[in-house]
Amino acid sequence: MSFLSKSTVLLLFVLCCTSFTSTEAYDPLVPNGNITIKWDVVNWTPVGYVAVVTIYNYQQYRHIEAPGWLLGWTWANNEVIWSIFGGQTTEQGNCSRFKGNIPRCCKKSPTVVDLSPRTPHNQKIANCCKGGLISSMVQDPANAASSFQLSVGSAGNTNKTVRIPKNITLNTPGPGYTCGPAKIVRPSKFLSADKRRITQALMTWNITCTFSHFLTHKAPTCCVSLSSFNNKAIAPCPASSCGRRKNNTVSRGCVDPKSPHVPGHKNNITPLVQCTSHMCPIKIQWHLKLNYKDYWRVTIRITNLNYHMNYTQWNLIVQHPNFDNLTQVFGSKYEALTSLSTTNDTAMLWGIKHYNDVLMQAGRYGKVHLELLFRKDKATFTSKKGWAFPQRIYFNGDSCVLPPPDAYPLVA
Ligand SMILES: *[C@@H]1O[C@H](CO)[C@@H](O)[C@H](O)[C@H]1NC(C)=O
Ligand SMILES: *[C@@H]1O[C@H](CO)[C@@H](O)[C@H](O)[C@H]1NC(C)=O
Ligand SMILES: *[C@@H]1O[C@H](CO)[C@@H](O)[C@H](O)[C@H]1NC(C)=O
Ligand SMILES: *[C@@H]1O[C@H](CO)[C@@H](O)[C@H](O)[C@H]1NC(C)=O
Ligand SMILES: *[C@@H]1O[C@H](CO)[C@@H](O)[C@H](O)[C@H]1NC(C)=O
Ligand SMILES: *[C@@H]1O[C@H](CO)[C@@H](O)[C@H](O)[C@H]1NC(C)=O
Ligand SMILES: *[C@@H]1O[C@H](CO)[C@@H](O)[C@H](O)[C@H]1NC(C)=O
Ligand SMILES: *[C@@H]1O[C@H](CO)[C@@H](O)[C@H](O)[C@H]1NC(C)=O
Ligand SMILES: *[C@@H]1O[C@H](CO)[C@@H](O)[C@H](O)[C@H]1NC(C)=O
Repeated sequence: MSFLSKSTVLLLFVLCCTSFTSTEAYDPLVPNGNITIKWDVVNWTPVGYVAVVTIYNYQQYRHIEAPGWLLGWTWANNEVIWSIFGGQTTEQGNCSRFKGNIPRCCKKSPTVVDLSPRTPHNQKIANCCKGGLISSMVQDPANAASSFQLSVGSAGNTNKTVRIPKNITLNTPGPGYTCGPAKIVRPSKFLSADKRRITQALMTWNITCTFSHFLTHKAPTCCVSLSSFNNKAIAPCPASSCGRRKNNTVSRGCVDPKSPHVPGHKNNITPLVQCTSHMCPIKIQWHLKLNYKDYWRVTIRITNLNYHMNYTQWNLIVQHPNFDNLTQVFGSKYEALTSLSTTNDTAMLWGIKHYNDVLMQAGRYGKVHLELLFRKDKATFTSKKGWAFPQRIYFNGDSCVLPPPDAYPLVA
């Protein structure tokens, strides 16, 4: 078992001498992804304007999941929000300067959240009320945007006097996105439902937000274990991939799965994980299942070890040289991400709606299982150590920690 000690040494080296890849300033697999927030002024009013605000997710595979987005900004003057549809301000603030009619929100820096899908129909607008969820571009482009409508008062009501909000913030609800300043752009055009009339906004401004792991300040959230049909040896998730194990109590940050008290909580950005040597909320097992003459088969098992989260619309990005010859996928949706590499070795996999698109919280149901069938390309297929294993795996856009190469199981 000399490879074990060698791998331990290598692991210690990796842990102590390199920073986690999640601290990279931008995501190498999606250098140009962004979220664009567009404000369309659709009406001037005697006291200000009515605007439709839409958040567009142009990222290929990073989505916003429960508990959803929070959009904030700082008014340039003393603007207030008289009414809001398809969203809600989290705090009213100090409206004591108003008598009679009181605005919805008087805060200098308001925060807006989405409404739930169960909102009554007469309080909805198009593209609203998704509980703060926004899909990624690849997974569900029809749901990659979210809108709400505001009526703003104590504000300029011409395109010369209106003041554009500053310091836009987008939280999910944790940090990660940085938004630039609003820029006035060409007014949006809208096609009527019968497609026979085009109207346009009175004024439009755009804000671009980009994601950076650097801002999330967090350890990896996912690790990979590798195994093969003909070799009992498993390369386990490297120890302490996502944190160091402490005492087995809830207050110390992990839960013993055998403990009678298994916590139940609503989706919460602070993970509460099962106690393991790696302490990752997500474990992915890549198992070489069969090696036929012309094909080979891999099973991927994703295990949720986080009691605080049902991962809705989960996705995986996998890089492996054989993806250009992927023949069949069982148990998930699939799309080759051809724009990410010249060799077509990267693919996105995600759950099938109403079947396994929600990776349930840790416990009996917290697993998803899928299979890939590859055609062997004689020119490239090799049973040499390591080739049959993935080069990189991302879960929901976060890079997963792989075992060190010298710990890989042999594929005879
Ligand atoms: C945001 O992404 C869209 C779609 O990929 C792209 O067209 C646009 O130029 C990007 N915006 C910025 C400021 O990078
Ligand atoms: C609310 O605003 C008024 C002036 O608009 C001010 O006099 C009052 O002190 C404020 N109240 C609080 C609690 O900040
Ligand atoms: C403001 O509106 C006027 C007239 O409608 C138009 O000519 C002008 O270009 C607009 N300015 C901006 C910044 O949109
Ligand atoms: C906007 O943010 C910057 C930097 O965080 C800060 O210096 C500035 O005061 C903020 N502006 C407003 C109007 O809050
Ligand atoms: C502003 O954002 C909208 C929506 O993302 C986009 O269609 C439009 O091209 C953007 N305008 C500019 C100038 O970037
Ligand atoms: C774990 O618990 C034991 C006894 O309860 C205590 O002595 C020890 O210091 C604890 N270790 C850590 C890392 O908290
Ligand atoms: C996950 O979903 C199940 C079933 O809908 C629910 O009972 C549970 O409370 C949810 N867990 C979290 C962490 O939201
Ligand atoms: C990658 O896929 C694209 C689209 O399917 C195809 O046009 C291209 O030739 C492929 N490139 C390689 C190196 O296989
Ligand atoms: C595998 O894919 C490559 C690139 O698309 C192609 O040139 C090759 O013929 C394929 N091999 C097999 C066995 O289908």
